[in-house]
Amino acid sequence: MPDPVAHWWEGCVIYQLLPRSFADANGDGIGDLAGIRERLPYLSWLGVDAIWMTPIYPSPLKDGGYDITDFKSIHPDLGCMADLRQLLERAHRLGIKVVLDLVLNHTSVLHPWFQRARWAPSGSSERNFYVWRDRDDGYADAPVLFRRYESSNWEWDEVAGQYFLHRFLRHQPDLNYANPAVQEEMLAVVDFWLEQGIDGFRLDAVPFLFEEEGSRCEGLPETHAFLRRVRQRVDACDRDVLLLAEAIQPVQESAPYLAEGELHAAFEFALTAHLFAAVAQGRCDQLYTCLREAQNAVPGCRWALPLRNHDELWLGDGHLVSDAVVEAVCTGFPNAEGHWLNWGINRRLAPMLNGDPRPNTLLHSLIYSLPGIPCLYYGDELGMGDWPGLRDRDANRTPMAWTRDRAGGFSTAPDPLLVLPPITAPGYDYRVVNVAVQQQLSGSLLNWHHRMLTSRQQLPALRLGDFQLLESDHPSVLSYARSTGDMTMVVAANVSGTGASTQLDLGQWRGSRMREVVWGCEFPAASDSWFIYLPAYGFFWWLVGEADMVAEASEPPQPERAEPVAASS
Ligand code: GLC
Ligand code: CA
Repeated sequence: MPDPVAHWWEGCVIYQLLPRSFADANGDGIGDLAGIRERLPYLSWLGVDAIWMTPIYPSPLKDGGYDITDFKSIHPDLGCMADLRQLLERAHRLGIKVVLDLVLNHTSVLHPWFQRARWAPSGSSERNFYVWRDRDDGYADAPVLFRRYESSNWEWDEVAGQYFLHRFLRHQPDLNYANPAVQEEMLAVVDFWLEQGIDGFRLDAVPFLFEEEGSRCEGLPETHAFLRRVRQRVDACDRDVLLLAEAIQPVQESAPYLAEGELHAAFEFALTAHLFAAVAQGRCDQLYTCLREAQNAVPGCRWALPLRNHDELWLGDGHLVSDAVVEAVCTGFPNAEGHWLNWGINRRLAPMLNGDPRPNTLLHSLIYSLPGIPCLYYGDELGMGDWPGLRDRDANRTPMAWTRDRAGGFSTAPDPLLVLPPITAPGYDYRVVNVAVQQQLSGSLLNWHHRMLTSRQQLPALRLGDFQLLESDHPSVLSYARSTGDMTMVVAANVSGTGASTQLDLGQWRGSRMREVVWGCEFPAASDSWFIYLPAYGFFWWLVGEADMVAEASEPPQPERAEPVAASS
């Protein structure tokens, strides 16, 4: 029986992909919407419920497409509106939702609004689409975000004879939300994409919409008021549409985006940092604190949980997490050294973990079982590598590896035309680390994800259940319970590289049957001091009691089919 969820994203798993790097259908070397459509059966097999595509709009690509010249069309490299429609149709047939990235805060300098603003008379509404000053010392308390590339939030414009504000690159002027005309234009953008039938927006950089002297210019009341207007537009639409906030802030500051009448979900970047720190240190006391804080701030499953994404592994300068956590991550992973970019570590997950599959599966098992919306970054299901040395964050944005063919089956274009070089680094070569090969190998990381995700689909307690942290007297063992009315799961995870034996107090379920559900194994009945042994980076998901699972998850892994990677439409 389907779970009684009010919204499609409750209990879902989101797969983040970069349209330019996922699959190239027309052989020009650049991934496109048609390529994504062809690969949807793979994503359906993998067991994800939604895709989030980074920006698809026309852009000079100074910032991976987050510098937009037209909010209401599609970059010709990626296809056209008809391609998007076909992508949506096929995704919906397969039960997959499609989330667009929407950049509210800024445009490209090449956006017609900015070109018009530069030439428009000072003080006019056209000029005031952006934030101008005669001097470059305004909003001095607002940190420079891309501090590797920029030393100021202001850039001089010859034509306007004024400085304009840019919280990100100098190619990305901030829109001036204090101008009502800007608000109306951006709400019209929201309406436009709602009409195209999309299922959600990942709202980029939401804290920065409004500015105020003497503040960090983050999460001001006016910004929240505008986001409530966005929510109203979404509520007025007859479909169920997700609003997911990107606010790289501590939970006390990101929780307000989840207030009544505002956004539905927000990334929990502090938790991401704490997960890495726990593995780096082999202990989870601070992770416990972080989980408690996040659930106290916003209970339930409204935090989206990424391990990695297309940006740096964001750690910050003591604002997001403590200096000690930053230090733990930087020193705990030798492969992080030398890869600090602006505010964090510019590496993919597998190479950061030095190719060790154990902490990799451990971290994923946590995001797949903690309360929230797990976000899987494309390629991480394979343990794909990265290419340090590529420009900016491109190291983490290289083509998806599908097969052992040229360019990993990503494209038929000659190498020089490829959007980025496929990975051939030792240990991560696309001829070995690819979907087709890993589907054949029952012990592969890919088949592990498939099994975890399909098991999770049958475990409403893990997707929707209440969350209860369980005491553990071992510093490396994190344990918690998730329960819905008729199903309870207990999870235990060892974040260290040494085995751990401990006892859990399962007195509240005393005498209940305990079954490990992913691989299928009976344990002794629950008791007040229930003994467990977890190998290095080991974890278990136990079903408590006799709750009926839709299917026993203990069958062996399915023989893999060629179908998911075969391109078909
Ligand atoms: C977000 C995006 C990042 C981009 C920035 C500016 O943080 O994730 O990739 O550079 O916003 O738009
Ligand atoms: Ca293409």
